[in-house]
Order: sequence, then structure tokens, then C-alpha cells
Amino acid sequence: MAEITILGSGGWGIAMGLSAYNCGHSVTLWSPFEDEVKMLSEKRTSEKLLKGIEIPKDIKITNDMSVIKDSLITVIATPSVAVASVAEQISRYKKNGIIVNLSKGLEGESYRRLSIIIKEKNPDCEVVVLSGPSHAEEVARNIPTSLVAASTSISAASIVQDELSSEFLRIYTSDDVVGVELGGAIKNVIAICAGICDGLKLGDNSKAALITRGLAEMSRLGVKMGANERTFSGLAGIGDLVVTCTSRHSRNNRFGNLVGNGVDIKTALAEVGTVEGYYAARLAYDLANKYNVSMPIVETCYKVLYENYPIDTVVKDLMLRPKTQEH
Ligand SMILES: NC(=O)c1ccc[n+]([C@@H]2O[C@H](COP(=O)([O-])OP(=O)(O)OC[C@H]3O[C@@H](n4cnc5c(N)ncnc54)[C@H](O)[C@@H]3O)[C@@H](O)[C@H]2O)c1
Repeated sequence: MAEITILGSGGWGIAMGLSAYNCGHSVTLWSPFEDEVKMLSEKRTSEKLLKGIEIPKDIKITNDMSVIKDSLITVIATPSVAVASVAEQISRYKKNGIIVNLSKGLEGESYRRLSIIIKEKNPDCEVVVLSGPSHAEEVARNIPTSLVAASTSISAASIVQDELSSEFLRIYTSDDVVGVELGGAIKNVIAICAGICDGLKLGDNSKAALITRGLAEMSRLGVKMGANERTFSGLAGIGDLVVTCTSRHSRNNRFGNLVGNGVDIKTALAEVGTVEGYYAARLAYDLANKYNVSMPIVETCYKVLYENYPIDTVVKDLMLRPKTQEH
């Protein structure tokens, strides 16, 4: 049995906490918000995020970050905008050990991958990125799920694989941190477009084309940034892309659906909550320009979200771009 602390007590933090608890570990959930700690401690469930899922009494819930001192694995499960500050707080209490990042996004100011920022602030810790097709609502209900644990330290990735795998959660290892992280961040942008597709009442053909061409864009950028192209045909690439683009659980997808239905961006954001793809769209658009990579779907999404590009001409404009070869 190992000590595992999950930093961030939203849907994904709770689901992964339950999964670790079911592997026999001693689990602590942390949140910076007193009201969240109080609500979860009293109700032992999150009615809003994981209705009907009980958090066992043995799982501790706290807002005291010092609990990470004893953990073998410290897991970050906050929105990506909070990762830098959480990584900074970790460094006050932890001098070594494994930090697992579950958050999917890129750093908003520097455009850097989150694992780089975590490592920079915690140079003596090993950083592992755990990603793949996984909705909290399903993991919390023990629905079989597969993830990939990527790290430059393959021994740290193997420890995460050993400690967190179960009959319900199959974890693979990978040394392609760049590919796994970019896949997790950029699929959220494509998922917004998939939601827009649904909002515009387009069909299965359009959705399949969007997923396929979205994957091509992700791979192109990833390869330019040093990723292994094969990672994009794995769990953190096509796997996560398919689940996010087709599932009713995805907040990015729901947000896109509202936008496709003509709801203005601010209202849609307020209605859905954390929409990682909204921030990732700006970052991916800038990265595409920086690395000189053609990403027409990402570019269009960026313009819809940030530049009032009219939603009724979006599809026609994408379809009538200059003709080209598939590969
Ligand atoms: N929900 C899922 O199914 C799922 C699956 C895979 C990956 N993810 C990723 O995991 C991350 C968390 O997702 P979520 O759905 O649990 O999000 P969420 O918004 O439901 O919860 C995040 C939690 O992080 C903490 N938090 C929020 N703001 C914070 C701040 N400023 N500083 C410190 N802590 C803060 C809070 O405890 C909050 O409940 C996201 O990056 C998401 O993309 C989510």
C-alpha cells in the first residue's frame, strides 16, 4: 500500500482517487477551496460532477498541502491554468518522488508543456504524464479504461503503471512525453469543433472527416515539436480524440455544441465550466504559426472563439480551401 495524494478534487481527481483507493492505496484528496473540502467531507460525493458516486470514509479530504510530504505519488488534477502554481506549492513540501500530471493543456504565457513547468519547479522529482481516453464519470464507475503513462524516466512511468493498474484501468508506458502531452491538449480544440458540428446539425460524415483531419493537424504539429508520429495513433492521440469528439461527457464538446447553436462564447463558457480547449485553441493557433505548420481546423476554431468568425460560413470556408493531397 502506498500513500497517494491527489491535488484537485474535481471530477477527474475524485475518479482517479477512487481508482487508486480500489488498488489498495491510502488516498488523500486535496483542494485549495475550503467550501469544496467541507462539501466533499460532509456529503462524501460530488452531486454536480459525479452524481451517485460515494467517496469512502477512508479517503482523506483536506486543504493542507503538507500531506504530500509522505506520498509516493503526488497527482496533479487541477485545470491547466492552475498547474504552475500547484507545482510551485509542491516544491515547498517535496524534494523527491513522483509527480503525475493528469491536467490536459499548455501553459498560457510561455506555451510550454505542463510537464516541463512541473519539472522546472521540482527538479529532483520524476514527472509522469498520464493521459488517454478517459471520462471521470466512467472511471468512477469502474468502466474499463486504458491510459498511457509517459515520462523521460521509464522507471517512474513503470512505477505509476504498477501502482495504478487494475482490472478496470490498464496503463501502458511510453517515453514520448511530447506526443502524449500535445495529444491531450490539442484534442480539446478538435472536440470543440466536433461540438460545433453537432450544434450545426451536420452528419456522421462531417464528424469522421473532422476527427481524421484533426488528427493529421495534431500529428503535424507534434512531429515538428519533437513527438513520435506513432503516439498519435495511440491512446493519447486517436484514442482520446475519438472519446472527446463523440461523448456527451465532454465539456469541450458541449461547449462547442452551444457555440454551434449560436450561443455567445462568454455565455457558453459560463454554462459549461472548465473548457480546456478554449485556452488550447489560442495556444495551438500560435504554435502552428511559430512552427509554420498548416492547421486549418485549429485556425478556424481560434477565429470563431476569439475573432467573431461567423459560424454560418465556417464549414463552407473549410471545405472550399485550395485542393490538396491527403498526405
Ligand atoms: N473530467 C474528466 O473526465 C477528465 C479526464 C481526463 C483529464 N481531465 C483533465 O484533468 C484536469 C481536471 O479536470 P476536472 O474535470 O477534474 O476539472 P474540474 O474543474 O472539475 O476540477 C478541478 C479541481 O481542481 C482544483 N482547482 C480548481 N482551480 C484551482 C486553482 N486555481 N488552484 C488549485 N486547484 C484548483 C479544485 O479542487 C477543482 O475541483 C483538466 O485539465 C482536464 O482536462 C479531465
